[in-house]
Amino acid sequence: MKVISVVSTKGGSGKTTTVMGLASAALAAGHRTALIDGDSNGQVIGWRQAFDQAMWKGIEPKAWPEALTVESCPTSTDELYERIGALEDEGVDLVIIDTRGGTGGDSETLALAADLVLVPTRPVAGEWRQAIATFEWMRQLFDGLEDQSDAPDLRAVFTNVPQKIVASARKAVPFSDLTANERHLLDQLAQLPFLETMIPQSKILQDFADYGPLTTAIEMRKASRAGRLHVGPVEDQLMFLTSLYDEVQALDAREAA
Ligand SMILES: Nc1ncnc2c1ncn2[C@@H]1O[C@H](COP(=O)(O)OP(=O)(O)OP(=O)(O)O)[C@@H](O)[C@H]1O
Ligand SMILES: [Mg+2]
Repeated sequence: MKVISVVSTKGGSGKTTTVMGLASAALAAGHRTALIDGDSNGQVIGWRQAFDQAMWKGIEPKAWPEALTVESCPTSTDELYERIGALEDEGVDLVIIDTRGGTGGDSETLALAADLVLVPTRPVAGEWRQAIATFEWMRQLFDGLEDQSDAPDLRAVFTNVPQKIVASARKAVPFSDLTANERHLLDQLAQLPFLETMIPQSKILQDFADYGPLTTAIEMRKASRAGRLHVGPVEDQLMFLTSLYDEVQALDAREAA
């Protein structure tokens, strides 16, 4: 079982969207996933609840997938580790923990409980600084571990990326368009370990709040003639997220070390 925590010093950096996206990809792969909502704002819990209240516009309401559970975060560290152990015993393949923005001690506990910490960031100069600050925070935290082999993997994920950039990601960056400050930040950012797959900016991911995981959104669209015409873009999003999830799975799990 793999445990992923999604953290950022910055609020609104795309943490919860990344959590929901990876959960969708894990479902598509047939993996049992448990989401733990470590943000007191309860965005993930709310996601589950909103699904039950969704308007199904004349089609048979879809069921929330059994392979995906959503729960609130235990209040103590001991209970958290117990809960993670219990999920493993239940045969869960993946646990994804959402955290709140900022540098709270609660987020540190949730990061330390993970095999992999993901730091989502929009590819915007103002946010790179925050991604770098998040890496510094996490590295300091991991440096304090007695046994360095306990330190989670740490990766940046570029999200909310304009489609144009996704399309030209492998072409040269127009460096002349950047200010000296931006170039400096970009240099630093390029030194962070990051996942190659970018999550594109997409209205479909903004609509996550309404229709549960993308696998369910696809089923839903396929259930009506009008929806079938619009299923392609959702499948495309799921493809990006599946590629990200494949990368995550390819990282060496801590338990394999
Ligand atoms: N790939 C994306 N495409 C389009 N919109 C996105 C994408 N990722 C995030 N967003 C939007 O950006 C906003 C912030 O995203 P999200 O809620 O995932 O961030 P967060 O880090 O969880 O925020 P918070 O710190 O408040 O919990 C949301 O409105 C979300 O819909
Ligand atoms: Mg959030």
